[in-house]
Amino acid sequence: MLEMSRTGLRESLDIGRDIVQRFAEQGYQLEPEALEIICSYHGARDDLIRRIIGSTDRSVAVIQMSQVSCLIEPGESGRNHFPEGIVSPSFHPMPLPSIPSTATELKCDITGRSTCVGDYEDFVRYFRDRYAKIREILSRRMNARPIESLGKSSSGREVSLIGMVMDIRTTAKGNRVIELEDPTGLILAVIQKDAEIYEQSRFVLPDEVIGVTGISDGNGRLFVRSLLWPDMPNSTQALEKGSGCALLLSDLHVGSKYFMDDAWQRFILWLNGEVDDPSGLASQVKYMVIAGDVVDGIGIYPGQESDLAIKDIYAQYEAAALCLNAIRKDITVIIAPGNHDIVRQAEPQPALPEVVQKYFRGDRLFVGNPAWVSLGGISVLIYHGRSIDDLVLRLPGISYAAPEKAMVEMLKRRHLSPIYGSRVSIAPEHEDHYVISRPPAILHCGHVHTVGIARYKGVVVINSGTWQSQTDFQKKMNVQPQPAVVPIIDLATMKVRKLIFA
Ligand SMILES: [Fe+2]
Ligand SMILES: [Fe+2]
Repeated sequence: MLEMSRTGLRESLDIGRDIVQRFAEQGYQLEPEALEIICSYHGARDDLIRRIIGSTDRSVAVIQMSQVSCLIEPGESGRNHFPEGIVSPSFHPMPLPSIPSTATELKCDITGRSTCVGDYEDFVRYFRDRYAKIREILSRRMNARPIESLGKSSSGREVSLIGMVMDIRTTAKGNRVIELEDPTGLILAVIQKDAEIYEQSRFVLPDEVIGVTGISDGNGRLFVRSLLWPDMPNSTQALEKGSGCALLLSDLHVGSKYFMDDAWQRFILWLNGEVDDPSGLASQVKYMVIAGDVVDGIGIYPGQESDLAIKDIYAQYEAAALCLNAIRKDITVIIAPGNHDIVRQAEPQPALPEVVQKYFRGDRLFVGNPAWVSLGGISVLIYHGRSIDDLVLRLPGISYAAPEKAMVEMLKRRHLSPIYGSRVSIAPEHEDHYVISRPPAILHCGHVHTVGIARYKGVVVINSGTWQSQTDFQKKMNVQPQPAVVPIIDLATMKVRKLIFA
């Protein structure tokens, strides 16, 4: 008996030493409680360690218990890691994706989980959740204090705060004033027009959560010296390894008279190996992800009727299903909705309803918008990308011609749609599904009909264009779509190429 427990103890010590060693190799120490949680984790411990390292900023020296526990789904491990009092009641960790080794899995979306009624309490809870989640990320990089603690005694002292941007205005003298709020109070953060960070402050968006450091006047104002966005940790994504290739598509707009049927047929012939493919790429494709606007829909914009080849929404989905059912059977197809699809317009959107799912082959995976999926261990955050409209309007240097830049701004803010109540109608769910709680390996958007590819701190950023040629409306608005171009990513090397079928 004694011998058995000695053996058990020795094993535990070995496991503990091994874990400490692995974190040390990456330059991190572990708080004892954090080590205890990892040691007693009964799931895939290697995956957990990779997730912790992947979500930790390089500036962090000691990894804390709270950071580890928020990466474990409640009930995921063999024992309760969330005893009351350990996780703050205002913090609702998004059921974060564990990273399975092989299968394609939907890890998180809104389908069947909507809690929204739309009353005042819903809004308060939604914004509290947004604040708590982003504060958690920012807290790893700054030591912030509550706004209410800035009394007279703080006058003349340098302090740091984490607040949600309630308002941004420019004074008659040309200074910028940001109204910042946290759950304890409100402060005016002043950026003088000759300050070095004035230019950077043009990137502050309403409703986002940022960190500021500056000199308090002890009377409700802070003269800002630096601004901090939550940002992605410095790259550790190379730790995620997959196999095969994934095709990223969006905005098919089947049913529109501009849907490029001929180009689609060429694409399918290539994918199914019915034409010469010297690159050998087609045979390596294991996944296809579609980030919304599967069909053109009905009544989406004034005068759409005259742009439609199919004027019945169900007939549009039947036609879309024919397009997708033609794909060879060993490819996993994942379908998310967009603003042209037959789901609620308010985001997050649930998966396409069963009444249209039934047209598609039974092995299709229907997910919501946004959604986290895993492609054999590679985590993909799919978001249709409607917020790009807001970001193009508000941020300097961001345009439809380079949608990947807007997507990088999402990553820097750790939020898919920071501005509330503009072009994107966000339902105030109890939790903010738009917070990017941990770095995905791939961020995939669509919506703007232009192709954009970038790599930001280890995250591959892809906007996948469209299958709709330029509409009359787009011609009038001088919008230049890039149709029938398919980004393909090798999940082993994370290299991206563009395939052109136009
Ligand atoms: Fe679209
Ligand atoms: Fe769209």
